[in-house]
Amino acid sequence: MSHQVEIAPSILAADFACLGDGIRAVEKGGATLLHVDVMDGHFVPNISIGVPVVASLRKATRLPLDVHLMIENPEVLGTLDHVLVMSVNPGFGGQKFIPGALEKIRQLKQARERYNLNFRIEVDGGVGPENVADLVRSGAEILVAGTSIFHTQDPAEAVRALKQLAGGALAQRA
Ligand code: DX5
Ligand code: ZN
Repeated sequence: MSHQVEIAPSILAADFACLGDGIRAVEKGGATLLHVDVMDGHFVPNISIGVPVVASLRKATRLPLDVHLMIENPEVLGTLDHVLVMSVNPGFGGQKFIPGALEKIRQLKQARERYNLNFRIEVDGGVGPENVADLVRSGAEILVAGTSIFHTQDPAEAVRALKQLAGGALAQRA
């Protein structure tokens, strides 16, 4: 998996009244992770979902859950598998991508090499077809996308298209 770019649909942009349908669509499109934004209204100025919904999601899909804890007292810091670069101000979906994130990703990649670390580089916010290639060329390996997947007619096709763009950019990078 480490040589592939993964697309992680962010369910924050899905219709919460029929989450199961949204999840099945992105599974069909080839998503390999499901991004789940947990917000407590304190760490960020918004409230999303909490433990009961995450528990139900765990039963509704076999995809690994990429749980993004935007909460106070996360008590989760053990080993670092992913480092997530926010490319919007955390708290809300549907915002515009902040281009400065590309440089952060490049620096993170250099630091990983310099210190011989293993984490994967993830980017979250405003990700869509227009910036996937730049992100992958900069070093992003997990692309979180909410609006550009769930606010389309065909979320499965949107995942496929993002994967294809990511794959193309990765081939150029190699
Ligand atoms: C924002 C969340 C994101 C959000 C991304 O705080 O962390 O995961 O859902 O949504 P889009 O892709 O719409 O920017
Ligand atoms: Zn997120």
